Amino acid sequence: MTSETNTNDTSDTSDTSSTNGAHGAAEGAGGESRVALVTGGSRGIGAATAVRLARTGHDVAITYVNGKEAAEEVVGAVRRLGRWAVALRADAADPREAEEVVERAVAELGRLDVLVNNAGVGVLGPVETLSPEDADRVLAVNVRAVFLACRAAVPRLGRGGRIITVGSCMAQRVPGPGGALYTMSKSALIGLTRALAREVGPRGITANIVHPGPIDTDMNPADGPFAAGQAAMTALGRYGTAEEVASLIAYLASADASYVTGAEFPVDGGHAA
Ligand SMILES: NC(=O)c1ccc[n+]([C@@H]2O[C@H](COP(=O)([O-])OP(=O)(O)OC[C@H]3O[C@@H](n4cnc5c(N)ncnc54)[C@H](OP(=O)(O)O)[C@@H]3O)[C@@H](O)[C@H]2O)c1
Repeated sequence: MTSETNTNDTSDTSDTSSTNGAHGAAEGAGGESRVALVTGGSRGIGAATAVRLARTGHDVAITYVNGKEAAEEVVGAVRRLGRWAVALRADAADPREAEEVVERAVAELGRLDVLVNNAGVGVLGPVETLSPEDADRVLAVNVRAVFLACRAAVPRLGRGGRIITVGSCMAQRVPGPGGALYTMSKSALIGLTRALAREVGPRGITANIVHPGPIDTDMNPADGPFAAGQAAMTALGRYGTAEEVASLIAYLASADASYVTGAEFPVDGGHAA
């Protein structure tokens, strides 16, 4: 049971029957769907999250930067589940686009209940080989864009709202050299999450961060040159799937997670064990 007043939370319903609302949105049992914005939803973890959230009662806006076609496929998958979806091009490296996309999502879908900060880039290499431009890009996409999306989303979220950020297992345990910049960026998100949890908690909004281990995506394919070593670092001895991360994100987005905030969640096959 939850003490949260969260009358619009349809995350427990398997209702996928679609009736068109003001924005063509599917309606849940409470008459209004929950709405999620997933950054970087065109591929990998973000795409799996968008589909998973659709299955658990959310209409979904996703962002992409280059993958228009892939984003449209995700939109199609969500709509086939009876939920509404839009794909918004918004370059997370651009501060204006990173922030404005929240308002665009609200304009398209009517409200915002869940922000999933997922878009990210991995730039790895020995610290002396990483340029100031590398640092600017990684911090812009992985950190500044997340801050700006939260900044825009917080006034829009109501009681039961959720902020879920995708960090990395490397912010908990660095398995070897080459991760200075990427790990620095993902570590910053832990601080942001904790501080945000304190700010938005009184309004019944939660903020949490998930730390994926090696996950089979375009960013880190399970048949890539460094894959065997990464799999060996986990307790389970294998890569995870994007869906395995998405299921944790969907839990954190749900009413079931109403007393969970300011917390870090590894979904890493035991990488941090
Ligand atoms: N895969 C792993 O092993 C792993 C492990 C730990 C953490 N993570 C984190 O998980 C998140 C998702 O990673 P993934 O493996 O799913 O990556 P991915 O397969 O490379 O997908 C990245 C997604 O982010 C989008 N994106 C990239 N740069 C963007 C930008 N500047 N503006 C807007 N969107 C942008 C991409 O859009 P386009 O299609 O338009 O390019 C795509 O939708 C990242 O934050 C990553 O750091 C991944």
